[in-house]
Amino acid sequence: MTRTLYLLCSAAPPVFDVAHVIEDAQSRGWNVCLGLTPTAAHWVSASLDGLAALTGNAVLWQYPLPGEPDAWPPADAVLFAPATFNSLNAWALGLTDRFVAGVAAEAIGRGTPTVAVPSLNAALAAHPRFELSLTVLRGAGVGLLYGENGYAPAAPGEAAPAPFPWTPALDAVHRAAAGPTP
Ligand SMILES: Cc1cc2nc3c(=O)[nH]c(=O)nc-3n(C[C@H](O)[C@H](O)[C@H](O)COP(=O)(O)O)c2cc1C
Repeated sequence: MTRTLYLLCSAAPPVFDVAHVIEDAQSRGWNVCLGLTPTAAHWVSASLDGLAALTGNAVLWQYPLPGEPDAWPPADAVLFAPATFNSLNAWALGLTDRFVAGVAAEAIGRGTPTVAVPSLNAALAAHPRFELSLTVLRGAGVGLLYGENGYAPAAPGEAAPAPFPWTPALDAVHRAAAGPTP
């Protein structure tokens, strides 16, 4: 049976890789539903129709109107990547005015296997709220790819020291969705 992955992206440069990531996830057997923050949707606005065609699902960046049916099937796993400083903090604080933050917040409550990859520079990472947010999300069971085995921030204005860890992220989603090893 095909499993559904909600891929949630906020407005950091790795969002421009999203078509390749969708194809990679599909080649691993996932039905992908793409959710974007409004800013991320603005950044990739020229590709929105193509991304909907690629996934076969509506690309969503705002909540449906009351009474509208769910556009997506239920999620078997969630990947929030790239997760900006803003979106990661909103998620950890439970601020759900943005659609993807709402989806991600509910994923925790539903117990849906969830992985996140932050994307931010070292100056933002040094803000005290960031570490608190990581602690909150880890404590809620979110798998975070950050630091040595994930995304490593660079100084503002400098390129990240390594490519964005999309393949490790999809590997982590696969492991999370497979459940705990006996
Ligand atoms: C070129 C560019 C690159 C950016 N890269 C990042 C980034 O890597 N991480 C981050 O947290 N914010 C980054 N920002 C700022 C976010 O896009 C901005 O905070 C935005 O409001 C985030 O909104 P969202 O979390 O709703 O997507 C960048 C902005 C620009 C214009």
